[in-house]
Amino acid sequence: MTYRDLLDISLENRKNSYAPYSNVTVSAALLCANGEVFKGVNVENASFGGTICAERSAIVSAVSSGIKDFKAIAISSNLDEFISPCGICRQFIHEFGSDIDVIMGDEEDYRVYKIRELLPLGFEL
Ligand code: THU
Repeated sequence: MTYRDLLDISLENRKNSYAPYSNVTVSAALLCANGEVFKGVNVENASFGGTICAERSAIVSAVSSGIKDFKAIAISSNLDEFISPCGICRQFIHEFGSDIDVIMGDEEDYRVYKIRELLPLGFEL
């Protein structure tokens, strides 16, 4: 699975985003060490604080299936600029390893960052 393939899975799954309030549709595809891919979308709520981001949806899905060893997460949205994960999602990704690759992009191009670059000195217990 190339990172281009992973990002394409994210792009394809964006149709499942539930974003009636912001109209910002976001999708994430999470590549696990065993090769499995878990998908997530943002799921908004009329009580705005109840919204969950696409990245956390994907991670919650994987962990709920007993998988916690992640290699990369590819994120896409309908915004003009490549979507960059919010602070809570950075911390959430970092929980499972500072070496995880974060791929941001669209149909044409993408960039790859380590989560530790996006969240220097991430909080750990
Ligand atoms: N959103 C994500 O899904 N991931 C991010 O990293 C940034 C923001 C969603 C939350 C909300 O549904 C919409 O984008 C606008 O903030």
